[in-house]
Amino acid sequence: MKPRILQKGAYMPALDTALAQEFDVHQLWRETDQDTFLANHGSEFVGLATSARWGADAVLIARLPNLKVISSFGVGYDTIDIAAASARGIPVGNTPDVLNDCVADIAFGLLIDVARGLSASERFLRRGDWKRGPFALQTRVSGKRLGILGLGRIGRAIAKRASGFDMDVRYHNRRRVDNVDFTYEPSLIELARWADFLVLASSGGPETRHLVSVEVIDALGADGFLINIARGSIVDEAALVAALVNNKIAGAALDVFENEPDVPQALLTMDNVVLLPHIASGTNETRQAMADLTVANLRSFFSSGKLVAQVI
Ligand code: 8YV
Repeated sequence: MKPRILQKGAYMPALDTALAQEFDVHQLWRETDQDTFLANHGSEFVGLATSARWGADAVLIARLPNLKVISSFGVGYDTIDIAAASARGIPVGNTPDVLNDCVADIAFGLLIDVARGLSASERFLRRGDWKRGPFALQTRVSGKRLGILGLGRIGRAIAKRASGFDMDVRYHNRRRVDNVDFTYEPSLIELARWADFLVLASSGGPETRHLVSVEVIDALGADGFLINIARGSIVDEAALVAALVNNKIAGAALDVFENEPDVPQALLTMDNVVLLPHIASGTNETRQAMADLTVANLRSFFSSGKLVAQVI
């Protein structure tokens, strides 16, 4: 008898197929009246397959009275009510590590793009502006100061890349990280004041919401750049837009936003802003690895009671 799994949203087709082959899957998003369906059938499900984007709030968890495990496609779990799951003894699986390199690559891609004006100069050329004169001088990356908010697995992958650019690295975390060669800065404001580039790599959720406040943005200063590959909620987005409009910082490069897929209109016309549609883990290789781990978490739980990769 295959475990009955509720799948919250459509994944990449290969993962939809893999899940359906291994488990008795019901695809919730196909229900026109999800409330009625869950009221009538919620007790049938022992597993929930979701993602960093779709999450699992306390209401959904409560509507699945026989739920034994949650497996999420993605490393971030700020959209999952961990407290509600923990209160029921329901372990939550995610997909850490397999995406570290691709996310760190995008962090550096964004950093170089915004510092050197890669996207802006490409638009400049395509518009024909080169015929009227050279593109403006930009900002050097190599040898500069890199501040990292959140020296977790992705933060450490970003720091590792900095050595290739001879950058001095400091980081801010809730607590100092043992056995790393990078300088710990206990104050985020002081890290921002020191850094030429401030890269956000911390987790999302209530405890980090608007951690990058107007004060932190002001400390980054007119020569500083903000790069965010973590969660939009970490930044006071209205304050960031105001700082960019008023040239309080040199630029920003963002893969995540507070209200995805909506992006503040003011950012769309700024040449010192690079905008990506949350693609940091979006490679064939990494998304397949994430898919494999999403299935492996469920498979492992139903065979051994343990997950391969479990959130705290
Ligand atoms: C998502 C992400 O997984 O892993 C995360 O936390 O933010 C992304 O890699 C992806 O957007 C699918 O939800």
